[in-house]
Amino acid sequence: MIIFNTTVPMTRTAVQSKAKNVTMFSGKGGVGKTTSAAATALHYATTGKKTLVISTDFTPSLRDIFELECTDKPAKVTDNLYLDEITYSDVKALWEKKFGPQLYDVFSTFVDIGYEEFADFVATILPGIRDEFMVDYIREISESGQFESIVWDTAPAGQTLGLLRMPSLMNHHLKPAARIYSSLKTTQNTKRSVLGVIREWQELSDKDMEFLRKDVKFSIVTIAEALAVGQLEGIFAEFRGYGLSIDHLIVNQVVEGADSPFLESKAQMQQRHIADLKRRFKLESTILPLLPHEVKGIERIREIERRLFASTSQWAG
Ligand SMILES: Nc1ncnc2c1ncn2[C@@H]1O[C@H](COP(=O)(O)OP(=O)(O)O)[C@@H](O)[C@H]1O
Ligand SMILES: [Mg+2]
Repeated sequence: MIIFNTTVPMTRTAVQSKAKNVTMFSGKGGVGKTTSAAATALHYATTGKKTLVISTDFTPSLRDIFELECTDKPAKVTDNLYLDEITYSDVKALWEKKFGPQLYDVFSTFVDIGYEEFADFVATILPGIRDEFMVDYIREISESGQFESIVWDTAPAGQTLGLLRMPSLMNHHLKPAARIYSSLKTTQNTKRSVLGVIREWQELSDKDMEFLRKDVKFSIVTIAEALAVGQLEGIFAEFRGYGLSIDHLIVNQVVEGADSPFLESKAQMQQRHIADLKRRFKLESTILPLLPHEVKGIERIREIERRLFASTSQWAG
């Protein structure tokens, strides 16, 4: 394990954090987010914490990585470890529970639309609402106290940043909505309920954003290649823009012990990018080796876990 910034206290392992009990893994496609999330969750579970590993990627692979057949929600993987993958219908159900029928009452007074169609449209087709309710879904689980630790596996970076942006955007857009609805010629009762719903929704957005800031630790996963490294600056800037700080950087699939000219050349290329990363990003970081096989099944996930949570004596720097 390598730390880039020697001023960071080294008494805790790479993916642990203060009071934050949710760890989110973000990064571009195929870099190892799900693998890192699985290894982190397995680690927490092994140390005795009741842990949930949950994915907001609508084309998820967590179940696959753990080679899990069970379709329970959440599904038990092993001692202390549970797994869930959020689907469209989960998001829709949560939105419906909080706002669906109330908003439909209002909407159906001026648009001829059936309830199911309306709910499908708002909760799953409009991406902003879908994204906000994914954050809300995880916040609810976190606040329920059912799990001591939650590990959050996400869709590739572009989509995830959209998801992070949603609560504050929602808040911004709902402000004029209140004005528009208050000038609508509706009955006093309906008007009151529209404004009430909008206010509640604003409060929910605030809570979701607060949750991201206070309870979520962000880990970015990357590989040591130009394209991936080049995207990091933008990812960091977007997080900063929402007052969110990235706690940990994982550089995955790094060649170690190259024993051929091909691998030697790849290793040298990666080391140049790693040197660049060290210079540019001063934060706690972990290097993970490229394994000679894909990471599937608990034993293989453990190999990653061991590296991710290696003792501090292995840290160089
Ligand atoms: N360190 C590694 N060594 C070898 N293969 C890896 C490593 N990390 C990830 N993989 C493999 O790369 C593929 C993509 O990893 P995954 O975690 O699904 O990425 P993401 O979730 O970012 O899309 C998977 O087949 C996984 O087994
Ligand atoms: Mg993934």
